[in-house]
Amino acid sequence: MSDEKPHAAGDVDAGDTSERVGMAVLRERGLEPEELREKLIDAIGAEFTTYYYYTNLRMHLAGHEDYKEIAEDARLEDRAHFELVAPRVYELGGALPNDIRDFADRASCPDAAVPVPMAGDGSFDTDSLSAENILEVLLEAERCAIRTWSEICDMTHGVDPRTYDMAQRILQEEIEHEAWFVELLSMERDGEINPAGHFVRGEPGDAPLSTNRRFNDSA
Ligand SMILES: [Fe+2]
Ligand SMILES: [Fe+2]
Repeated sequence: MSDEKPHAAGDVDAGDTSERVGMAVLRERGLEPEELREKLIDAIGAEFTTYYYYTNLRMHLAGHEDYKEIAEDARLEDRAHFELVAPRVYELGGALPNDIRDFADRASCPDAAVPVPMAGDGSFDTDSLSAENILEVLLEAERCAIRTWSEICDMTHGVDPRTYDMAQRILQEEIEHEAWFVELLSMERDGEINPAGHFVRGEPGDAPLSTNRRFNDSA
């Protein structure tokens, strides 16, 4: 075995907890870890808010059990995406905003809101609401997610294998989600067969690629 241990020490002093080698190595490779970290907070802000908004969208697909099931898979997988990347924010020296309003405001995608106004009694004006309207919102939310995670793949490819691995796994699921809603909207709106090539997940929100290590049954 060689006496040379070139990785035993570097620019961070031994025992210095104010610096992280996991960030320094990114900087050495030309990626500003703070810039990446802030982009990740924006991206998982969108995952978290989409998880919330999809709850309402799924509820209002009443009578379409097949659509509800697919929306539920996409909803739970967005929560998995938030869970997968949240620890990375802390590894990069950051934190989630203390105020959830700040977190929602900086989300990298628009609110996936139910596309009709709420009436004064706290319910939606469902007269003008249709499965087609809702599927359009779901589809565009998935497209925003694909653009977001593609950008993060581009930033990290060949530089930050850990973030890249997370982002590419999420991206693969977002591409599947887009295909699901292309299929459903094509048939619902246009009577057109446009197959996704997939079937529903085995378990709701299975997140086959992005699921975090499960701490308990709800994670
Ligand atoms: Fe997602
Ligand atoms: Fe998605």
